[in-house]
Amino acid sequence: MLEEFGQPLVIGEIEVDEVAPDEVLVRVIASGLCHTDRSMQLGAQPLPLPLLLGHEASGIVERVGSAVTTLRPGDHVVTCASAFCGECEWCMRGLLQHCESKRRARPTGRPPRLSRSGEPVNVLTGLGAFASHLLVYERTLAKVPTEMPLDRAALLGCAVLTGMGAVRHRARVRPGQSVAVIGCGGVGLNVVQAARFVGAARVIAVDVLPAKLEQARRFGATDVVDASREDPVEAVKALTGGGVDHALEVVGRPATIEQAFAMTRTRGTTTVVGVTRAGETIQLPAEAMMLEKRIQGSKMGSSQFRLDIPLYCRLYLDGRIMLDELVSETIDLADINQGLEKLDGSDGIRSLIAFG
Ligand code: APR
Ligand code: ZN
Ligand code: ZN
Repeated sequence: MLEEFGQPLVIGEIEVDEVAPDEVLVRVIASGLCHTDRSMQLGAQPLPLPLLLGHEASGIVERVGSAVTTLRPGDHVVTCASAFCGECEWCMRGLLQHCESKRRARPTGRPPRLSRSGEPVNVLTGLGAFASHLLVYERTLAKVPTEMPLDRAALLGCAVLTGMGAVRHRARVRPGQSVAVIGCGGVGLNVVQAARFVGAARVIAVDVLPAKLEQARRFGATDVVDASREDPVEAVKALTGGGVDHALEVVGRPATIEQAFAMTRTRGTTTVVGVTRAGETIQLPAEAMMLEKRIQGSKMGSSQFRLDIPLYCRLYLDGRIMLDELVSETIDLADINQGLEKLDGSDGIRSLIAFG
């Protein structure tokens, strides 16, 4: 749990309330450490404290509320921050990532789901997955087939869903197109593998760490650019004779968003997957509008996670997408702070916390 921004997480016991009618209690099997957790720990957004981080987990349903219809005890599930109510305008339009009623916390006046010494404990995106148990809203979970290894499945809920979805649902990369991916971490590698999966002819991976570029090649990059050694915009333009059809930014910084835009060609599309800090701005050359260039955001890969997560399980089980290679180490909860620190520029991709 985070008690103060910028400080290590504190490990301890908290109280979990009774399961409300629309809630599910899950025993966590594995929980991934995502860069978003690290950013929130360092204070990227003014979230209420104390805060239980973690939003990329897998587990087994232990108990369901009286109104739960889609899950049963014993079901294997994956969490997704993109909970949906099924009733608001955005849900009706199939854009669950913008649901107005994600029920991330209980309505005011009701006892909190989690508390410590009588004080409510806040959770990140309605999940709080750095814990042995989750008490969550039913529609923040996707059921996965029992043959899917649960330790691998955790990554489906954020890194895979966000990266694959950005290519499939948001950028909508078509066969034969050229794609540049800036930032080849846990999410970026999934953008790389999705681009190859949908048939991109060129997939150019850009990163500042040589080890990440090597991993990107394993995930299907046809070319790599080390942005710590050369100007990535010039390099991508040189490789493609003028720019790519699609640039996807998966770092979350204004400078790399501007680079992504600059490396797209006429009619090219920039898709921003990375999450920037509150208040940051970008600057773009206005004359690029004459080239009919486009720039757009992408949230959780614009995914419908209850369709996409089971699909990615199938693709993994059929050997058509890579997941094992995303896990660089499995750690105990006790080592979470070292794991989070490693997210600042280490060669690893994803650390997974394994719960007994
Ligand atoms: N140019 C290119 N790559 C960069 C640069 C840069 N200037 N700076 C950092 N990177 C690379 C890092 O070396 C790393 O490989 O970006 C990658 C970021 O990867 P992770 O730290 O693993 O982060 P990830 O979990 O993939 O998330 C990336 O997407 O979902 C969002 O909030 C998330 O904004 C974050 C982004
Ligand atoms: Zn995440
Ligand atoms: Zn909704």
